[in-house]
Amino acid sequence: MGSPFKADIVKGKVALITGGGSGIGLEISTQFGRHGASIAIMGRRMHVIDAAVSSLRSLGIPAAGFEGDVRKQDDAKRVVESTFQHFGRLDILVNAAAGNFLVPSEDLSPNGFRTVMDIDSVGTFTMCHEALKYLKKGAPGRSSTFGGGLILNISATLHYTASWYQIHVSAAKAAVDATTRNLALEWGTDYDIRVNGIAPGPIGDTPGLGKLVPEEISQTRESMPLYKVGEKWDIAMAALYLASDAGKFINGATMVVDGGLWLSHPRHVPKETVRQLSRAVEKRSRDAPVGVPRSKL
Ligand code: COA
Repeated sequence: MGSPFKADIVKGKVALITGGGSGIGLEISTQFGRHGASIAIMGRRMHVIDAAVSSLRSLGIPAAGFEGDVRKQDDAKRVVESTFQHFGRLDILVNAAAGNFLVPSEDLSPNGFRTVMDIDSVGTFTMCHEALKYLKKGAPGRSSTFGGGLILNISATLHYTASWYQIHVSAAKAAVDATTRNLALEWGTDYDIRVNGIAPGPIGDTPGLGKLVPEEISQTRESMPLYKVGEKWDIAMAALYLASDAGKFINGATMVVDGGLWLSHPRHVPKETVRQLSRAVEKRSRDAPVGVPRSKL
């Protein structure tokens, strides 16, 4: 699908995207590149990174790939430094690396819980921590006329209520959202850095959807009234909006991009029944003598 945005809305910016080699991270990388940014991607599997970098370069996008695990502080530091060495500045950090699997809570080991916390929550903070010196206003490579940079954390909606078999990811993304708000407060005030998040719903053609809604259990979808699968494009467009000047007053927000799914509840009463009964019930209640209990109406 094409883009509704002008092709230069992030022109000249340098973006580092963790988990940028596949899924949502790769689509954000591609769309940022198509709208003028240079792209560094970080991931654990070199062959995945190499393929992603080739695909970006084939579109004429300046791109570099760096192997690294966000759970390792040395990797985070090295990749941030390499990005700066390669492109001479850093404007945008997108934390898209994540870990996930379905598991009933009683079958999840503390180490399984910790692994996802380490990737999603601690990994996000570690990347922010290492990138700070290049993102702050007046940082090396940033002209004094530029403000600070942007951090974009990919989150989820799982923890807004509660989610079956996702205790580890719910806890991890709750921590990500808290990190987004706290850094927005502190680094927005002190360094002119905007820190925002995006909470995607189920997005088609991603490793996440393949793991969380495998074909074997896809009938689950029919029981969810607002279930629609989004496209990676939907998330990338939200990211572009937040990264562009259009988002310059948005700080500390996590934008839900899920077609309304997280609001979903079963429809207990059919719409026709409500249409037929609503006014009659209203009239009955208005005409009832004061003091008559509702159960007698
Ligand atoms: N059910 C229950 N526990 C599981 C599990 C599953 N499906 N998969 C992994 N675990 C547990 C392991 O048993 C281990 O705990 P233990 O030592 O107590 O046995 C712990 O999680 C770590 O697993 P391990 O395979 O050693 O971790 P890893 O670092 O190789 O992989 C994962 C990390 C598990 C998060 C892996 O799924 C991954 O790499 N994910 C990245 C890609 C991804 O998930 N993308 C979708 C994003 S939405």
